[in-house]
Amino acid sequence: MEEIIIRGGRKLDGKLPLQGSKNSSLPILAACVLANGVSVLHNIPELTDVAAAVRILEHLGCSVKRQGHTLTVDSRGVSCYTIPEHMMHEMRSSIVFLGAMLSRLGKAELCTPGGCEIGLRPIDLHLSSLRALGAEIEEQNACLHCACKEKLRGCVISLSFPSVGATENIMLAAAAAAGSTTILNAAREPEIDDLAAFLNACGGKVRICAGGAIQIEGVGRLHGAEHTVISDRIAALTYMAATAACGGDVLLQQVQTAHFLSVNRVFEQAGCQITATPDSLRIRAPKRLSAVRDIRTLPYPGFPTDAQAAVMAMLSKADGTSVMVETIFENRFHHVHELNRMGARIRVEGRVAIIDGVARLSGAPVTAVDLRAGGALVVAGLAAAGTTQISGVHHIDRGYERIEACLRTLCADIERSAERAGRQQQLQPPVRK
Ligand code: EPZ
Repeated sequence: MEEIIIRGGRKLDGKLPLQGSKNSSLPILAACVLANGVSVLHNIPELTDVAAAVRILEHLGCSVKRQGHTLTVDSRGVSCYTIPEHMMHEMRSSIVFLGAMLSRLGKAELCTPGGCEIGLRPIDLHLSSLRALGAEIEEQNACLHCACKEKLRGCVISLSFPSVGATENIMLAAAAAAGSTTILNAAREPEIDDLAAFLNACGGKVRICAGGAIQIEGVGRLHGAEHTVISDRIAALTYMAATAACGGDVLLQQVQTAHFLSVNRVFEQAGCQITATPDSLRIRAPKRLSAVRDIRTLPYPGFPTDAQAAVMAMLSKADGTSVMVETIFENRFHHVHELNRMGARIRVEGRVAIIDGVARLSGAPVTAVDLRAGGALVVAGLAAAGTTQISGVHHIDRGYERIEACLRTLCADIERSAERAGRQQQLQPPVRK
């Protein structure tokens, strides 16, 4: 089983160009189903979740070619309207194919999605919204049989919570529908803006309004387009947390710094110096981090739930007691047990984590049980004394592109067990016959 091995305690130093955003790439790949033609997408990270989305596209009849970070998707051959169960279970984001398939094909058969185990993740908002647009959806043993008797028809949808995935599904379904759709209380994450930009490049008419509404004028048919996805703000925050926890001075490049306004404050309260240009962020760590009293995960522009674990790992070494409240997901503290095994002192009371900072973390064998928990263990391992071996690496590969190589450019001592095994093999004397 593959492991990441970290010999911790080194300061991080250097420059790192950031990967493209996973959470932008996935809905934009789903949008390619709708965009009947050839789309060229740049800055698509090499991640296992992206590979899973590509497998779905190919299954539906698209041809997909990758050249470095550019994917060319030809969706003219789309004809299949089912997604097999094993593909749906590979990731949560598979559900955003539903809106695109309904809109392009008028029907879809799939089962409920998989994804990180971070508590109940219902899709009621997705389904009620698609029903409001005219889809008939039958649920049977976790399978969804969906059809539209006529073309989807625009309407006003008011979300009870600004769900990212539900907003994306509505945008995809409504972009080519008849008439106009308004989403009230829509998600405002930068990845939503990015999806809107791609849909508009494909001939769509999507307008993000002030105050959390999105207006979509259905255009009947979309064509392929060229688009560059935004950079991954969560990967950036993970590398920032690592720099803060280890000490050091890191320049993140190819970043949209406007996406960081509320989170930079947390790093500054912890004592870090942040210098931003429109497309780069420099973080300089203090000698010892200060605790941050009250961090609450919230929909954008609030503090992102996806950065909660990495920032908790960072604060486990701060001076004093920090408090983090997870308001988005009901069970997203799986990393706490493993961080405590490394010497952290964190207790969880319901949705609140109380982090009593310690002067020293110690390396240990630990397991990543979900993607961001994995990111947090990497942060802790880099900041700990001694060696940390992280298993469950496949979770990390869902969202961080070659995390060990990126961190090595920042002077970290980190490798995969496969790399070490390869090196050891090279050191063996050749077998003589
Ligand atoms: C997206 O997930 C992201 N995934 C998640 O990132 C991220 O944590 C999340 O948004 C919140 O920012 C992708 O973009 C692929 P939601 P999504 O619908 O769309 C409840 C990562 O680590 N809800 O905004 O699934 C839900 O249970 C991943 O990169 C309903 O109740 O998130 C949750 O409590 C993990 N009914 C809350 O809303 C619904 O129908 C937020 O979920 C839908 C959601």
